[in-house]
Amino acid sequence: MKITLVHGSPKKENKSSATRLIIDYLAEQLAGHEVHRANANSRLSFPMDVIVFVFPLYVDGIPSHLLKALQSWQDLFIAYHIKTKVYVVVNNGFYEPGQNYPAIAMMKQWCKHAGLLWGKAVAVGGGGSITAAAIGKGPNKNLADALDQLALEITEGGVMLEDDYVKSNLSRGLYRLSAHLVFRLRGRHYHAKLKQQ
Ligand SMILES: Cc1cc2nc3c(=O)[nH]c(=O)nc-3n(C[C@H](O)[C@H](O)[C@H](O)COP(=O)(O)O)c2cc1C
Repeated sequence: MKITLVHGSPKKENKSSATRLIIDYLAEQLAGHEVHRANANSRLSFPMDVIVFVFPLYVDGIPSHLLKALQSWQDLFIAYHIKTKVYVVVNNGFYEPGQNYPAIAMMKQWCKHAGLLWGKAVAVGGGGSITAAAIGKGPNKNLADALDQLALEITEGGVMLEDDYVKSNLSRGLYRLSAHLVFRLRGRHYHAKLKQQ
């Protein structure tokens, strides 16, 4: 199976990008298949069976650089009647994965417009903790389960095609507390006064 994983965060593709960590994990689960990596600046290589868009939620939507790429790629899909299957993984900074609902709706709409086949979406809340521990450990246990399931569905097809809304394994209170702590430490690093933090 030929699978393209699109990194849709404008952050550099290093360990500080939650998107990059999700893509690395998914690529491991898809070992044995022909996996290609792309980003918003890439020329997509065809044919492909599946394309997975992994991106952060930006202002309740799709990051603008990725939106621009989607607009240019859709012409290709339409012109060549390409029927690739689309999966989406969106992660967001607030605790609630439901925040990703509008971005997923936008991706579904785009998919229809480009004539592609919708697979499913995984919405990941509490994105701040993805870079804090390995996927599968501590706050990221539920995330590993959801990505394992997604990999299975991509390769075997149609096991559980409902969109998946994944919560961090941290409680809401603990997530909030650690977010405050991280913001305070960052503020201190940049010599911000406590009032400004
Ligand atoms: C410009 C900008 C807009 C964002 N908008 C939202 C938002 O609307 N809702 C939300 O929950 N998180 C929002 N976030 C937080 C990111 O979605 C979150 O930090 C994500 O985990 C970053 O993923 P990445 O490391 O792959 O870029 C925003 C972040 C930035 C920089």
